[in-house]
Amino acid sequence: SKPYVYVTRKVPEESLTALQEVAEVEMWPKAEDPVPREVLLEKAQKASGLYTMLSDQIDEELLDNSPHLKVVANLAVGFDNINVEKATEKGISVCNTPDVLTDTTADLAFALLMAAGRRIVEAAEYVKDGKWQNWAPLLLAGTDIHHKTIGIVGMGRIGTAVAKRATGFEMEILYHNRSRKKEAEEELGASYVSFEELTERADYVVCLAPLTEETKDLFTYDVFNKMKSSAVFVNASRGGVVVEEDLERALKEETIAAAGLDVFRKEPIPADHPLLSLTNVVALPHIGSASAETRHEMAALVSRNIASVLKGDTPEALVNEDVLS
Ligand code: GLV
Ligand code: GLV
Repeated sequence: SKPYVYVTRKVPEESLTALQEVAEVEMWPKAEDPVPREVLLEKAQKASGLYTMLSDQIDEELLDNSPHLKVVANLAVGFDNINVEKATEKGISVCNTPDVLTDTTADLAFALLMAAGRRIVEAAEYVKDGKWQNWAPLLLAGTDIHHKTIGIVGMGRIGTAVAKRATGFEMEILYHNRSRKKEAEEELGASYVSFEELTERADYVVCLAPLTEETKDLFTYDVFNKMKSSAVFVNASRGGVVVEEDLERALKEETIAAAGLDVFRKEPIPADHPLLSLTNVVALPHIGSASAETRHEMAALVSRNIASVLKGDTPEALVNEDVLS
């Protein structure tokens, strides 16, 4: 019989074709509600493959209780929800969806930057709420984007794609990353600077770094305090890189001007969260890669990743190459 694969959310049926050829596929039937932990643990016990969302915790407990598991494939480029070290120890391949979402996510990060800088959401609500009585010289005046300095923290594929967009706005581009990116320096005119210099000089500080031990709680009050009082902070990576109480304080005290946030420490962020009460916060429900085209491509890639592992081939997007040795 075919190996069993569990899909933790309702995904487009047609994206499962490649997978159904090699596996018996079962899917959690709901698109918006996540699979309960007990159900996931039970299904994982007999699964050779798991098709997972970034909201599923694929931790040591789950991996230890899944004796047949060969592959965990996330519908995301990030994989901080998966204990990769443990998976590797157990010979389980971990896969993600890089490349197919790079431009879509960069578009969203730039949209957030523009929305926060030019107060787009606040202004749109102003009109819809019937508050627009008169045109006024400084009504909802935001801050410019063109010719300003962008500081990109995390110059991977998405960070580089954001830098490319910034060149169209003739921005000065600073970046900080674990390693130098000579190509971005040569092709986009980006300058490598220390994290401290970036936070001090940038008008727009944009985080696109993955959540790791090094980036966890990176943005503290001290960091916001070093930024310009006109600075706009954008986060399209993971909520865990920000100490949210510190960001809230910085925004309230006008230590920085505004924030555009696609991600939060707890998702969904509760509606009564203090950050959401601030007019200078643009908040989105983690939609970085959410264009219909890209989500379909991501879904198809997840299916191919799992099918490859089950057939004994190397998948297109393997996170833990050590598992092969
Ligand atoms: C989304 O946040 C992703 O990691 O793809
Ligand atoms: C993700 O694809 C990144 O490298 O930024």
